[in-house]
Amino acid sequence: MNPIFNASVYQHRRNLLTNEIKSGVALFLGNNEAPMNYPSNTYHYRQDSNFIYFFGLHVANLAAIIDFDDPKTVIFGDDYEIDDIIWMGDQPSVYSLTESVGVKEVRPFAQLYDYIQKAAQQGRKIHFTPPYRGDNKIILSNITKIDVNTIRNEASVELIKAIVKLRSVKEEIEISEMEKACEYGVKMHKTVMKRCISGAAELELAGIAEGVALSHGNGVSFPVILSQHGETLHNHTHDQILKTGNMLLMDAGVEGLMGYASDYTRTLPIDGKFTQKQQEIYEIVLKANLSGIDATKPGLYYKEVHQLAATVIADGLKNLGLMKGDVHEAVTLGAHALFFPHGLGHQLGLDVHDMEDLGENYVGYDETISRSNIFGLDALRMARELKPGFVITVEPGIYFIPQLIDIWKKEQKFAQFINYDKVEEYRTFGGIRIEDDVLITETGHRVLGPHLPKTVDELAEIIGK
Ligand code: GLY
Ligand code: MN
Ligand code: MN
Repeated sequence: MNPIFNASVYQHRRNLLTNEIKSGVALFLGNNEAPMNYPSNTYHYRQDSNFIYFFGLHVANLAAIIDFDDPKTVIFGDDYEIDDIIWMGDQPSVYSLTESVGVKEVRPFAQLYDYIQKAAQQGRKIHFTPPYRGDNKIILSNITKIDVNTIRNEASVELIKAIVKLRSVKEEIEISEMEKACEYGVKMHKTVMKRCISGAAELELAGIAEGVALSHGNGVSFPVILSQHGETLHNHTHDQILKTGNMLLMDAGVEGLMGYASDYTRTLPIDGKFTQKQQEIYEIVLKANLSGIDATKPGLYYKEVHQLAATVIADGLKNLGLMKGDVHEAVTLGAHALFFPHGLGHQLGLDVHDMEDLGENYVGYDETISRSNIFGLDALRMARELKPGFVITVEPGIYFIPQLIDIWKKEQKFAQFINYDKVEEYRTFGGIRIEDDVLITETGHRVLGPHLPKTVDELAEIIGK
């Protein structure tokens, strides 16, 4: 059981949800324990983020309903029996747990089926979010009688939109939890930086990162990305030994005890010193990161910030002779995506890609902006207008992905903007990404967490020390 906010926080959130949804019943299935290799050997437990947001309890085997027609909130769950207590110790009753989050009505889990089926028979709408775990898909299918294979498509758009509206704007108490997650994330990265020396094993560094995360919170906010092959965007293989002359990319964050995430990327020269070629590319990515952060403010579409960072990247690559022609035209058409094939960032909160279970397009897009189908821009998770209280990541990168270079070169794709002969000189360069977490304020922005070294000099100062 994790710490929780005051009960009034959850009551207030549920009231706001009730204001958003006209009728029907919202059904929230909490997450259950997930077996690794046999039923009683389970993964580290993680509650569903929507359940945490409205009901606070990081406890398995619970479900909840909010009935909008016959206003009431009920949590469904069963108290531990003696067999559970023998192995797991005495546990608070479901009633005492639910009371702590302001819910007064508790019923046995099995009664959930009757409640929902009766509401459905009355022709009332059953609102649920898209289930993403196999067991909850089955439970939901059994309760609603909707085919398990298509049940994700039957999720309530009204509920999804209402949740996105609420969860996108972080409350002060949430921001202070995110500050803690950032503080631990910075500590994690700094600890790894000190061991970023030739001869160290990637596995050791990944273990250090996990260890710091576990000693401060619920562990990592997503599996650690740590590799000397930074050009693979989400590289989870840590089987190499660090070598002078290489760079190490680490993209990792911590989930604090309340469930809030941080998400940082740094790219480190092993032993502390970049080659000239590395430093030139690094400075471009750093400029894109700083320009993106600097531009971030309410009222601006995040797509504009993405395009700004892309322009900084294209301009820098042109100065090095890797790109050519008109920079703005190149970015509009998507030529820079050979080097920067992902989006500038995403919302951050209880999930590292916040609310992604609800569908990326509901979280990052709205009726005023739809997703592009241009390669690179199509990977932008967050494009819509920034509002005070949003937390976003700013994470530009430059990568040399040999297989992608080969495909584009063969097609002579955007040959008017890309100097393919020069690109060949960077074939084995790898990749660089720099990522920070930023709160949108009333007047601009604030970078969350303590400063994490990122200039060339700052990195030289801490690496291996
Ligand atoms: N955790 C991967 C990312 O930064 O989006
Ligand atoms: Mn990241
Ligand atoms: Mn990120």
